[in-house]
Amino acid sequence: MRMVVLGLGYLGATHAACMAELGHEVLGIEVVADKRELLAKGEVPFYEPGLPELLERHITSGQLRVSGSYSEAAEFADVFFVAVGTPQKKGEYSADLKYVDAAIDELVPLLSRDAVIFGKSTVPVGTAQRLSERAHALADEVDVEIAWNPEFLREGYAIKDTLHPDRLVLGAFEGGRAERIAREIYQTMLNDGTPFIVTDPPSAELVKTSANAFLATKISFINAIAEVCDAAGADIGAVADAIGYDARIGRKFLNAGLGFGGGCLPKDIRAFMARAGELGAAEALSFLREVDNVNMRRRTRMVELTREVCGGSLLGARIAILGSAFKPESDDVRDSPALNVAGQIQLQGASVTVYDPKAMENSRRLFPTLDYAPSALEACENADAVLVLTEWPEFVTLDPRQVAETTRKRNVIDGRMCLDADEWSRAGWTYRV
Ligand SMILES: NC(=O)c1ccc[n+]([C@@H]2O[C@H](COP(=O)([O-])OP(=O)(O)OC[C@H]3O[C@@H](n4cnc5c(N)ncnc54)[C@H](O)[C@@H]3O)[C@@H](O)[C@H]2O)c1
Repeated sequence: MRMVVLGLGYLGATHAACMAELGHEVLGIEVVADKRELLAKGEVPFYEPGLPELLERHITSGQLRVSGSYSEAAEFADVFFVAVGTPQKKGEYSADLKYVDAAIDELVPLLSRDAVIFGKSTVPVGTAQRLSERAHALADEVDVEIAWNPEFLREGYAIKDTLHPDRLVLGAFEGGRAERIAREIYQTMLNDGTPFIVTDPPSAELVKTSANAFLATKISFINAIAEVCDAAGADIGAVADAIGYDARIGRKFLNAGLGFGGGCLPKDIRAFMARAGELGAAEALSFLREVDNVNMRRRTRMVELTREVCGGSLLGARIAILGSAFKPESDDVRDSPALNVAGQIQLQGASVTVYDPKAMENSRRLFPTLDYAPSALEACENADAVLVLTEWPEFVTLDPRQVAETTRKRNVIDGRMCLDADEWSRAGWTYRV
């Protein structure tokens, strides 16, 4: 099938390449010229394992093309995916829908044939209804149907998650063509037995925001228990392992540590609270404020712990920060807890050197005043404390004896509980979590 993907960021570029992989003919539309140029050459402007190979293959075959022209998009296909960003509004909790609105406003007046527009971006409940009304007003004698098809991919596993999702969700208005078209698009996955939940648009929108709210809550839950463990002298690792064996609870997302960040969970729970407030249901989600608070406290606690380890003051201390991406296997530093901590530690007078396997360029752009080293060992040179803040495999497998040869003191803080505590302690390190 011919289709257009509007917005080629983490979500859109992956979706476009995966749709080509499924055999569809895809045109990707991106407004940022630099990104477009790279993508058109088959190069991915961000780090996502496996995506460069997939993209290059389909750009070379012509199955996937990239453009900046909405007229070309309107001419090319009758099926569209909206994959533009929905960031948090500046100074507010709610989602900024200006990119989604712009995509609809630009596309719909150009359509000369009936079309179905699938929203993939994460949006507040009610958005599909609003956009549907907007599209009907803008459409020039053509029928434009809006449906919501939320995306659950995880950065670092984006291709696997797109091609082999846990489930597909479609929120379609009654009597439309969206379900039939979606079944055709995702036929390969549906034949593989992927569960397909077809519902109305508000429910589909809520599936995504509720899923993210649940994940955020689970992380903050274990971090709240970690606070109590700290106070009581208990071992959060043992508690998480033991409760995780309960099948009703499960061990995933129960890793205590520095908490969540990135371009999704923080802004999504805030937008969810804001939307509930608009709907008169603020009280129902007031617990998410606490989820957010617990999460932010982890960052403050990390700074305090570093100060404590450095003898009560960070002034003049040298701190090595290993990991700046918000999670491993990604170069995404949006709302990265690691960079947030790095910035706060620097503000308190320490000199901070950061190393990340993939996120150096993005980190430098966001925090140009931090020092950056080309390797983990170089970042650790003369450090008074080493902080592991993103659980990249290369940090997990660091040799503590080798690291000890470069640092000034042997203090390690394991912000992700990913190191072998005994091994580090045996090598003479004071290990803290
Ligand atoms: N990144 C993820 O892991 C992930 C997972 C699931 C859902 N989402 C959701 O997907 C959406 C996109 O997220 P992302 O991480 O890919 O963001 P992103 O910022 O990486 O990508 C958005 C892209 O859209 C482009 N764009 C903006 N306006 C445009 C327009 N009018 N026409 C064409 N292109 C335009 C931007 O230049 C950018 O390249 C968000 O709603 C996000 O919450 C993201």
